[in-house]
Order: sequence, then structure tokens, then C-alpha cells
Amino acid sequence: MDKSINLALIGASGVVGQKILQLLEKKNIRINKLFPLGKSTVGQSVHFQNEDIVIGDMDSFDPSEANITIFSAGSSVAKTHARKFVESGSYVVDLSSEFRYEDDVPLIIPEINGDILDDLNDPALIANPNCSTSQLLMVLKPIHDTYGVNFFNVATYQAVSGTGKEAVAELKSQTFDGNSEPKVYPKPIAFNVIPQCDIFLDNAFTKEEMKLVWETKKILDPAIEIQATCARVPVMNGHSEAVFLKCSKKASREEIINCIEGTPGVCVMDDPENLEYPTPLEQANDSEDVYVGRIRSQQIQNDTWISLWVVADNVYGKGAALNAVQILQRLVSSNKI
Ligand SMILES: NC(=O)c1ccc[n+]([C@@H]2O[C@H](COP(=O)([O-])OP(=O)(O)OC[C@H]3O[C@@H](n4cnc5c(N)ncnc54)[C@H](OP(=O)(O)O)[C@@H]3O)[C@@H](O)[C@H]2O)c1
Repeated sequence: MDKSINLALIGASGVVGQKILQLLEKKNIRINKLFPLGKSTVGQSVHFQNEDIVIGDMDSFDPSEANITIFSAGSSVAKTHARKFVESGSYVVDLSSEFRYEDDVPLIIPEINGDILDDLNDPALIANPNCSTSQLLMVLKPIHDTYGVNFFNVATYQAVSGTGKEAVAELKSQTFDGNSEPKVYPKPIAFNVIPQCDIFLDNAFTKEEMKLVWETKKILDPAIEIQATCARVPVMNGHSEAVFLKCSKKASREEIINCIEGTPGVCVMDDPENLEYPTPLEQANDSEDVYVGRIRSQQIQNDTWISLWVVADNVYGKGAALNAVQILQRLVSSNKI
């Protein structure tokens, strides 16, 4: 069997695509052939494993050239092209929300439900979860396993890098050049907080808020009840989340810390006396870990109420590039490619 990795990367020039290339190099994942693909950057090149590789046109690319494809180019591109790649024999990892809620498409965080990948028999479409969901579930998983999470409420403080390269440019231009015309966001983002991520749905929640609900139920446990408020903040990179959860078993602050500590991919930063807690500016610098601090516990009747502060690099880390690369690694280690 051919074990070489022939990777098509759709969206190689994007915020996430660039970090995927950086992670593949950092982890010494040997790519036999890389096909960087795009739209407006066709003809430009990406630097990868000591080579300059020209970005090709996705519309004229032969999908059978790749045995694994990462779609990092948004929903409409994935909708038009992703299944064609699967039919041509490629495993496809899609970072958009296009397929996440389809029953036959696995939604994967390798540390939580990566075993689903081991059971795939043929090339398949695999969805990468939303950035806010991935970092949150990395922390909730050990708590849920030990203390049984019944309910959580989360408020997110999401960086502009989560909306892509045009949003990063919009915050820079509003902040440093004084341009106030919003194009990517519905309101000015500089010096502001916008309580809207993605579109509004009929139930008055935004789609981003419902992604947290749908994806937690699909990945972790359908019995958990969830309410979310997602806000966009003028932070370049790194999503933060204030989480309040209720558990069915009693747990002190120390017990929750012990339960989370040692979880691969999660770093506890919680020493209030020494002002130690995570912030996006300090922790979201091409870091793979999800950081958790400000851990508090209260016993209310028969519940344990817990509050947490969770920060992660939404582009490089679990929210996007890292999780996609880990899916690729799991497909390799389980001999799919
Ligand atoms: N940023 C995050 O934190 C984050 C987190 C989780 C998931 N995601 C998802 O990751 C994906 C990429 O996001 P991003 O932040 O990297 O966006 P981005 O910076 O705006 O980049 C978009 C990429 O898509 C490519 N593209 C657009 N239209 C195309 C087309 N018709 N054919 C081929 N390529 C096309 C662009 O190529 P050209 O430049 O060549 O036009 C560019 O490389 C999206 O699905 C997003 O939802 C992002």
C-alpha cells in the first residue's frame, strides 16, 4: 500500500492554511506531494519544507492526485467541491461548518472521539469543529467524565483572526489608520465589543452560539444542556471563554484542578495570588495548549457550580490548524493513508 501523504490544501494562503503548513513542518510530518490551492492567490507561492510551491487553481485541480485534502476555504467552497474529492479517493478534512451537523459526517476532536477515525473503512468526509467548541470541550471532557456536567453557560470573547485575513486587516485599519467603515463586521470592531458572531437564527441566538450547542451534543454528550453568548472583541488572536457549569457530583476547586491537570493538550494556569491566569495576548502565540484558569467551585444544594476561564489560540491551536493536523496524523497512524 502507498503510505506517502499527497496533500491538497485548499485555502493555503489563508490565516488557517498558513498555520497548517507551519504545524506540518514543526511536527516533521513528511509530505510527499503538497498541492496548495486557492482562488485570488493562484500563481503566488507558499514556502514549505525548503521549497517554494506555486498555489494552483482549485477549479482545474484533479482530485485523484491527493489521498488527503484539507478544505480551509469556507462553507461554499467545501459545499461545491468536498464530496468530489472523497469520491476520487481522498480523505477530506473540512474546517467549515458545512457538513458538521450531518449524521454521516464525523465531527472530530482526536483526544475525545478520535477512535471514530480508526473505524473508517473508506475515504470519508471528516468535519473539524468550530474554534469555540474545540477549546471548551478539551477542558470539559475530564470534568464531565469525573463529575458529570449537566448544564453549562458560556460567554465567548472571540478574536478577529477567527473571521479570517480580511477581518484582521479591518481591525488594524480601524485601530491604526482611523478608518471606521465596517465591511467584515456589522459594526466597528476597534475599541468595541460586538455581541454578534455569525448570523441571527429564528430562535434569536446566533449561528455561532448554536454551533456550541449542536457540536457539544454531537461530540461530548447529547444530554448536556447549553446556553451561549458569543461576542467579537478587538483582539487580534486568541479566543477567551467564561464558562459556568453545573455538575451532578460534588467537587471542590482543588478537586476540579486535580481532575483537569495532566489532561494532554490542557494547561492549568491558576494562581490568583500571583496574578496567574491566561490571557489571549500572552497565551495565544502559536501555542498548541488550551489554557484554563480562574477555577472556582460552589456547593449549591445538590449541585456543584463551577466557573472557569478558558483561552486558546483559535487559529494555530485546537480551534483550527492543530486539530486538522491531528486528524491527519490519526489517519496516518491508523493506516488509512
Ligand atoms: N480563523 C479561524 O479561527 C478558524 C477557526 C475554525 C475554522 N475556521 C475555518 O477555516 C477556514 C479558513 O478560514 P481562514 O480564517 O483561514 O480564512 P481566510 O484567511 O479568509 O482564507 C480563506 C482561504 O480560502 C481560499 N478561498 C476562498 N475562496 C476560494 C475558492 N473559491 N476556491 C479556492 N480557494 C478559495 C482563499 O484563497 P485565496 O486567498 O487564493 O483567494 C484563502 O486561502 C474557514 O472554513 C473557516 O470557517 C477558521
